[in-house]
Amino acid sequence: TYEETEGVLFSCDAFGGFRALDGGLFDEEVDLSEYEDEALRYFANIVGMYTHNVLKAIEKLQGLEIRTIAPSHGLIWRRDPGRIVDLYRRWSRMEGEKGVTVVFGSMYGFTLRMAEAVARGVASVGVPVRLVDAARVHPSYVLLEVWKRRGLIVGAPTYDAGIFPPVELALRLLERKRLRNRVVGLFGSFGWGGGALKAMEELAKRNGWELVRTLPFRGSPSAEELRDGEELGREVAERVVRGA
Ligand SMILES: Cc1cc2nc3c(=O)[nH]c(=O)nc-3n(C[C@H](O)[C@H](O)[C@H](O)COP(=O)(O)O)c2cc1C
Repeated sequence: TYEETEGVLFSCDAFGGFRALDGGLFDEEVDLSEYEDEALRYFANIVGMYTHNVLKAIEKLQGLEIRTIAPSHGLIWRRDPGRIVDLYRRWSRMEGEKGVTVVFGSMYGFTLRMAEAVARGVASVGVPVRLVDAARVHPSYVLLEVWKRRGLIVGAPTYDAGIFPPVELALRLLERKRLRNRVVGLFGSFGWGGGALKAMEELAKRNGWELVRTLPFRGSPSAEELRDGEELGREVAERVVRGA
């Protein structure tokens, strides 16, 4: 709903965000650097599947003099209403920042060890990286971190011939939200027949993600395999920087 006399857009779910506002109500009253991540977590989890509609809605706003945006969740934007529109436009395009999110899960610590090597590889070429343990972080935060960056490297051990469940949940959510435009690497430990990597590869393909390569290893990673993990991190990071 657009209220013409004061230029207020009541946008319902669009332009909303999570988080209690510590007494604040308007955008000039809160720490925006903290709030914007919570707006992205809301976007990825609540609006993520409807990015097409968001872009269409933003188009409809052209020509309106909007002085305030009052969504039904989160902050009211009156100092800079254009800011949240810009953010929603960028998030809807799913381009992601030039950085890499490493999402992993690990039962005994083998895939964790490789995750650290992979993240080291990303950092070594000066690209921002965030390591997220899907078994310990709420899935809504995993989605936030993955939505934020163009690079995505996923590590999961094989569990009953498939993907370790906490990582599988995160990947299924990303598939449901139809996240696109990711440059991807995959790794993971297995005990005998494996299976997690193949399942993740298929999921990456279904999502239209650009797969750089996969790195499976048995049990605890060797020094050589860890070096290869660093190399995987570098390859994905360089692809993100070149291509984004
Ligand atoms: C419940 C459970 C199920 C497993 N299922 C498989 C399996 O189907 N195929 C396989 O190759 N390894 C399987 N494994 C072995 C793990 O993939 C292997 O121990 C791996 O090195 C664990 O890596 P992590 O320390 O990163 O969790 C299973 C392990 C557990 C605990």
